[in-house]
Amino acid sequence: DAAEKGGYDHYMLKEIFEQPTALRQAIAGRIDPIEGRVELEGLSIPDGFLEGVDEIQFVACGTSYHACLYAKQLMEEFADVRATVEFASEYAVGSGRNPERTLVVGVSQSGETADTLRALRMASRVGIRTLGVTNTVGSTMARECDDALYIRAGPEIGVAATKTFASQVIVLAMFALTVADVRGELDPRAARKLLENLQDLPGAVQSVLDNNDAIEEVADAYAGGEAFFFIGRRLGGPVALEGALKLKEISYDHAEGFPAGELKHGPLALVTEETPVLAILTDGTRPDETRNNVKEVQSRGAPVITLAAEGYQSDDEVGFDVPDLGLLEPLVANVYLQLFAYHVADSKGRAIDRPRNLAKSVTVE
Ligand code: G6P
Repeated sequence: DAAEKGGYDHYMLKEIFEQPTALRQAIAGRIDPIEGRVELEGLSIPDGFLEGVDEIQFVACGTSYHACLYAKQLMEEFADVRATVEFASEYAVGSGRNPERTLVVGVSQSGETADTLRALRMASRVGIRTLGVTNTVGSTMARECDDALYIRAGPEIGVAATKTFASQVIVLAMFALTVADVRGELDPRAARKLLENLQDLPGAVQSVLDNNDAIEEVADAYAGGEAFFFIGRRLGGPVALEGALKLKEISYDHAEGFPAGELKHGPLALVTEETPVLAILTDGTRPDETRNNVKEVQSRGAPVITLAAEGYQSDDEVGFDVPDLGLLEPLVANVYLQLFAYHVADSKGRAIDRPRNLAKSVTVE
């Protein structure tokens, strides 16, 4: 067991540290940053179908759902096509949709989550084309969908998903560029920038991992919080949700994530000196506006930890630097949140790889 964990105390920590490798595998042979083009192998979706598609519906659960929330924004930004995200367990085929002009994209690390499979089968039954994005070759999802796209993250053992989140997002980002290209919406400059950012992402994630000791110190200092709030706007929203999910899954602390603008519409009532707030202040997250929210919670005495890109840091607060990486900066911030959750849980002696009541893959609806 110890050997399988490669010297780490937990699979989760090992998998957090495997992210640079996982990310390199996800892009290997798939991108050409000079031309600004993507080549995703094995997709049989006809160009004519993608040109005519009115709506791309993402369905997923848990961490995969958060990856879809991120991808939806990239899809709309790059391909200018309507994209929606639904919890797979809530999916229903709407009456107003034209099945011939709809693509359902199921996203699942395991490819075996019952809720997600059910949503895909429902779509299939009414003639909607399906694409499965998964980590698991030969999984039910890969076999049943019209097309499968692999994230190539390698096996993930820890119940709480970690490395697969970033891999899902970037594979979906590459798919967004593919859709944009086919639909004649590709902005070559923006595409080249995103692809350069994709190439630089593994190194940026490594720089976060190199900060692990400092994150552990901060996590130990704040682990006694009564509750934890995670805020971010736009692409920071899904990461705020994911940061909160990670913490609650493995530390059993109460944690909530929400778009920073929603703070004043309710959650602010819960903010006290005992509730650390973790804020994402990077490109793609409207950091100036979130900075105002940070001030609001600071004035109520809440301890704040920022994950901030250059220009958005402040000397008088606890913070970690996010390297310059455009629209992928929130993904890098997420790695800090994974380590934060890990160390809070570890300081409490939790069963990190097998949290109570949870399963790696939920095969019942
Ligand atoms: C379970 C796991 C989560 C995971 C979710 C979706 O609830 O505990 O970590 O995010 O299933 O799993 P999937 O394999 O479909 O991505």
